Amino acid sequence: MMNKINPTKTESWKKLLGHYDAIKDTQMKKLFQEGDRAAEFTLKWKDFYVDYSKNRITAETMQHLRDFAKEMKLGEALDAYFGGEVINETEGRAVMHTALRAPADAKITVDGENIVDEINETKQKIKNFSETIISGSHKGFTGKAITDVVNIGIGGSDLGPDMVTEALAYYKNHLNIHFISNVDGDHVHENLQKLNPETTLFVVVSKSFTTQETLSNANTARNWFIRKNAQPGEDRQKDVAKHFVAVSTNLEAVKEFGIAEENIFTMWDWVGGRFSIWSAVGLTIAISVGYNNFESFLKGAHAMDEHFKNSDFDKNIPVTLALLTVWYNNFFKAESEAIIPYTQYLHRLPAYLQQATMESNGKSVDQNGDPVDYQTGTIIWGEPGTNSQHAFFQLIHQGTKIIPTDFIGYKESLHGDQDHHNKLMANYLAQTEALMTGKTEVEVRKELKDTGMAGTEIDKLAPFKVFEGNKPTNSILINKLTPESFGALIAMYESKIFVEGMLWNIFSFDQWGVELGKQLAKNVLKDINGDDIAKHDSSTTALINYFKG
Ligand code: F6P
Repeated sequence: MMNKINPTKTESWKKLLGHYDAIKDTQMKKLFQEGDRAAEFTLKWKDFYVDYSKNRITAETMQHLRDFAKEMKLGEALDAYFGGEVINETEGRAVMHTALRAPADAKITVDGENIVDEINETKQKIKNFSETIISGSHKGFTGKAITDVVNIGIGGSDLGPDMVTEALAYYKNHLNIHFISNVDGDHVHENLQKLNPETTLFVVVSKSFTTQETLSNANTARNWFIRKNAQPGEDRQKDVAKHFVAVSTNLEAVKEFGIAEENIFTMWDWVGGRFSIWSAVGLTIAISVGYNNFESFLKGAHAMDEHFKNSDFDKNIPVTLALLTVWYNNFFKAESEAIIPYTQYLHRLPAYLQQATMESNGKSVDQNGDPVDYQTGTIIWGEPGTNSQHAFFQLIHQGTKIIPTDFIGYKESLHGDQDHHNKLMANYLAQTEALMTGKTEVEVRKELKDTGMAGTEIDKLAPFKVFEGNKPTNSILINKLTPESFGALIAMYESKIFVEGMLWNIFSFDQWGVELGKQLAKNVLKDINGDDIAKHDSSTTALINYFKG
């Protein structure tokens, strides 16, 4: 069971507060003059090189943080997490997405029941089905092979498959993959108009199969499929089975929707939506890159799980990254973290990690049900480098906020254009250096003087060209973007999220915060569709009236 300790009441938290006061103004630049920080603060694991030396830390900081993790009983929490205990207490569920990427012969139980056999069965089904789609042996209703696959889902049932399909685009086959998520009809219709019903497969993904967006889009897609170019007397109802499959825990609702039982890929309530990519929710990924690549993706994630479970805290990548998050979030009062992948392939990663992190750790009540009196979940944001350098890096360099940033890059490029890759990675490396070292007024003045600028002009301009520096970054460098290394990267962030939540004494695996808006949207929809409007505040009533008018 989880420990329910208030982090701020621990001895180590108090020590961290004192240590923070002592170190908060220390310049990293100065710390780099003492000893070999790069060697001291770099973790190497398989093809991962994680340099966290450009952080506002010393060996003492890390020791206090690790003591804090121990005092919060992180080791026990890890046992409970991997051991299948009901750590998602408010929903009464275990959290077992890690079981989905464990080897086929693993022994994993939930409530005393072995879950590995059913996982293996589902994997086999994913394999078989994805192979029939890729090979073209699965035929549409006119006997043609499938050319286009449309994933209909939202949240974890969309972001994961979309993000991974994009990330692994280099490994992709001939099939065209589309994603429909928003209840915005323009999203579904914009996509449908490009498709041919004869050669399109819809994968409807919804753990609950009650989600308004997904069901609306699935219904619209089914109606389109039944009617599009249908000849008089043609009945395509019976052909739905060849063109619609579903991934869900709610078998009854799926059958009611009209999807045949053999076309349902099951998942389990011990898999949270935002961690479901490793389950049949990844079907679109397997179809897009082939089952073997999907397996490699799972394998990489499992290797990271083993590292996370078995490494001492001082060698443990997810634990170290989570401790740094706590350090900045709770002591430096940083509000957000940026994730900057230096590869265009990972352009959806920040959006994916927004859900994974913010839906998990955006909580203000602790595990005892009491309001927290300290900060919890960070705001996650980002875009690929180098695009982001030309967009929002100004604020990271010279703004008033501290924004710890993860730089993610690869030693090798996939298409092998070394000229481009060197430029890309020069930017990655230079940015972390610039953020750390900054530029002093003395340096600015010298630089301007060397251009021949007059003293009065220099006086005017110099303050604007100073870079404070001392901005924290983690440099994550991986050999190559492969399905395996990418699985490990995602698992690294998932584990980091778990550690953060545990250290903040919150429940990371429920998401009650999304319910209220959903409920009220139902009421407002009645008001929009009906003649009368129920009682709301004056702003909402006026807006409904304005919309209807
Ligand atoms: O928005 C809340 C949420 O439950 C997410 O956690 C989930 O990923 C998403 O909705 C979609 O849910 P479902 O897969 O049940 O349609």
